[in-house]
Amino acid sequence: MFKVHPVPAHRLPELLRAMPKAELHIHIEGSLEPEMIFALARRNGVALPYASVEALRAAYAFTDLQSFLDIYYAGASVLLKEQDFFDMAWAYFEKAAADNVVRAELFFDPQTHTARGVPMAVVINGLHRACVDAGSQLGISADLILCFLRHLSEEDAFATLEQALPFRDRFIGVGLDSSEVGHPPEKFARVFARCAELGLHLVAHAGEEGPPAYIWSALDVLKVERIDHGVQSAKDPALMARLAKERTPLTVCPLSNQKLCVFPDLKDHNLRTLLDAGLCATLNSDDPAYFGGYLNENFLQTFAALHLSTQHAWTLAHNSIEASFAPAVDKQRWTHQLNQTFERFVEHDY
Ligand code: ADE
Ligand code: ZN
Repeated sequence: MFKVHPVPAHRLPELLRAMPKAELHIHIEGSLEPEMIFALARRNGVALPYASVEALRAAYAFTDLQSFLDIYYAGASVLLKEQDFFDMAWAYFEKAAADNVVRAELFFDPQTHTARGVPMAVVINGLHRACVDAGSQLGISADLILCFLRHLSEEDAFATLEQALPFRDRFIGVGLDSSEVGHPPEKFARVFARCAELGLHLVAHAGEEGPPAYIWSALDVLKVERIDHGVQSAKDPALMARLAKERTPLTVCPLSNQKLCVFPDLKDHNLRTLLDAGLCATLNSDDPAYFGGYLNENFLQTFAALHLSTQHAWTLAHNSIEASFAPAVDKQRWTHQLNQTFERFVEHDY
């Protein structure tokens, strides 16, 4: 482990902003800002059930995951053309570059779009083109992860996989998202087994609102490599011990958890507990347009609320690089850049 010298408290925000980091839990449809929703609705002639940007934003008062998902799927209904998907992802990448994100693994929800008659090619090609341009124009390494909607059937997931296979080289893995409680991971055992045979990376949302049992079955039945959220693992000491021992990454999203009332307040979040127990926890934005902040905002607010240290900052950035699905040479380069950033901050203090 890199020897981290503490920086003075007043310089920690600057260090959090400057350090290179990977974002591993971002639903690209959750980066659609209200202004872009209205602009795309106009461009595509889609009617919205909200009179204005302000009225839409005023509806962002969530009580749980489902109350958010209802609005999130309504927002995504303005996406029709390849250029819409490109524009949405590009707007995210510009913000990610400003946050010193060097690697982004983007979730997308194809069923939300194909169910409205948007072809899979339109979705994947628009997002893929933005990923390519993020690499060449912003220096961000980016890949796509296709998520199955767990409130739909496994049969539907299989049909979605079939439609996506002509674009197999344009996504690196599959995930599982949407309404968690009542839709346990084992519902998708066969489709995940097929994805493993195809050489796809496997991740799943588990233990966001759902019980630790869902995390166990994501690991043992779906055989995922990372758990998205996973904050409910703190309720199960045997699970915590396993996650620490195997260093299974958790992609934790504090502002999301606060806005969806998983924790009553950011001060009550268990990220410090997860880190101090030796888990490979990472910090992410989930749906930044809906939850009040992109990646650096998540870092700044969480560090302030939990009084996290310079060591926690390095560990979170390092965990994000370690947990990413990027090639080993890239991970080595980013780790070197991370350590140089920390050295620069210490040198300036003396
Ligand atoms: N889809 C978008 N954001 C999500 C979240 N936080 N949980 C489950 N599904 C989602
Ligand atoms: Zn999520």
